[in-house]
Order: sequence, then structure tokens, then C-alpha cells
Amino acid sequence: MISINNVSKWYGSDQVLTGCTATIDEGEVVVICGPSGSGKSTLVKTLNALEPVQSGRIIVAGDDLTGAKVNLNRLRAKVGMVFQHFELFPHLSVEENIVLPQMSVLHRNKTEARDKAHGLLLRVGLGQSASKMPAQLSGGQQQRVAIARALAMDPVVMLFDEPTSALDPEMVNEVLIVMTELARDGMTMVCVTHEMGFARRVASRVLFMDEGAILEDCTTASFFSQPRSERARAFLSQISD
Ligand SMILES: Nc1ncnc2c1ncn2[C@@H]1O[C@H](COP(=O)(O)OP(=O)(O)OP(=O)(O)O)[C@@H](O)[C@H]1O
Ligand SMILES: [Mg+2]
Repeated sequence: MISINNVSKWYGSDQVLTGCTATIDEGEVVVICGPSGSGKSTLVKTLNALEPVQSGRIIVAGDDLTGAKVNLNRLRAKVGMVFQHFELFPHLSVEENIVLPQMSVLHRNKTEARDKAHGLLLRVGLGQSASKMPAQLSGGQQQRVAIARALAMDPVVMLFDEPTSALDPEMVNEVLIVMTELARDGMTMVCVTHEMGFARRVASRVLFMDEGAILEDCTTASFFSQPRSERARAFLSQISD
């Protein structure tokens, strides 16, 4: 589903990705972790062409993102992304936040888009919140709306960049539960997260990044039981779950 081949990226003279290579199969859940500044967000953003790369090749669901002509609208519908800050439109209701992108990008009619929105709100446990404004919801609820909004585009891959790290601790779980269900339903997912409990339970693989490089790419079990690099061992010893 995703092929990242020898990808490097620079901001000016700063190299932020160095020869990153990884393959992610359909239905896999991959967690990316590593120290701050190691390039996790940058790598994830390259997977829906939010960040261009200067060398290497990225193919997502058959589209070459590094090729000359990539259809960004089509790509971003296929690749859902959920960020730390939910970025809902504050002046639109929950329902409108989910309905409008379906109409503008996928050209669904209003009835179809609303049916889809209501089904997804039920799925993320917010069946009663369609007419509320984002500001009337808690952070955890807003993040679940953001997940529903991304799912409304029928993505084939979902990218998450620290979706729970801006939330109060008591709201983290409700978002992780939705993500876990999504994984169980077979969604291909790439998640940057420090939630190591989630990683252990849900991820099939862990990519550990340091200084722009993928230092480890291994099964979840072997990452936690026998990380190969000193960097990963030090990282794991500092992080709790
Ligand atoms: N727009 C930008 N312009 C210049 N440098 C940037 C930009 N965005 C990120 N960087 C640099 O790229 C490197 C990787 O940043 P990135 O945000 O990908 O790290 P991260 O692993 O996601 O860190 P964190 O855990 O803190 O979110 C950092 O050194 C950062 O300063
Ligand atoms: Mg980041």
C-alpha cells in the first residue's frame, strides 16, 4: 500500500530525512516513534504530499507522489490525515465539517454526505453531536470528529500524527479506542504516537526514527523486547506506557 524508497529531504541546508526506506502492506498498523525532531512528522507528511522530498520515491496506493503529475485532490481523499490539533472549521457545525469536504472533493450530494456523516458519528460515539459547534465539544470529542471527517472520504490509508498528545489525559483513551477499532476493521494505518501501550496492543510493526533516519523497522514484539540500537533502548527507557 505504501512504498518509501530511499527518501531524503532537506530544509535549506538542514537534512531532515536521510535515506528512509520502508514498505507498509494493506491492513498493517505501523507506529512511528522516536525522539523530538527526529523527522516523524516530516516523514508522515510526505505520505500525502504535504511535504515534498528532494530525492527518493514514494508510492501510495499506486500513485507515485514523487512523480511529475500527482493529483493532489484525489490523493488527499485516499490518504486521510489526523493531526495533533484537530483543525475543524470553528464556524461550521460538526455535521457540516464532515459533509462539506465530501461535497466539494467527492461531489457527493447533500443527502448522501449527511448519511455518511451520521453513520461515522455513530461509529466514533458521537451520534448526538451532529448539530453542535466544535467549541461545544471536548478535545477528545473534537479529535473523534476529525477522525470521522477523514473517514468520510473513504480513505485507503489513515495517517495519524500524535492525535492524542494535545488532549487531557482522561480523553486519550476514547480516541485510542476509536483508532483501535479502525485497526481491527482492517484499515491501513501509520501512526506517530508516544502511546506505547497502543503501539504494543495494536501495531504490527514499529519504525524507530533518529536524526532523520529509520533506525529500526521491526515487529512490535521485537522492538519492545530487544531493540537493536542503543538509541532505541535509551528512548524506551525514558518513555512510560
Ligand atoms: N517547516 C520547516 N522548516 C525548517 N525546518 C523544519 C520545518 N519543519 C520541521 N523542521 C525541522 O525538521 C526536523 C524534523 O522535524 P519533525 O517535525 O519532523 O520532527 P518530529 O520527529 O515530528 O518531532 P516532534 O516529536 O517534536 O513532533 C527538525 O529538526 C525540525 O526543526
Ligand atoms: Mg512531530
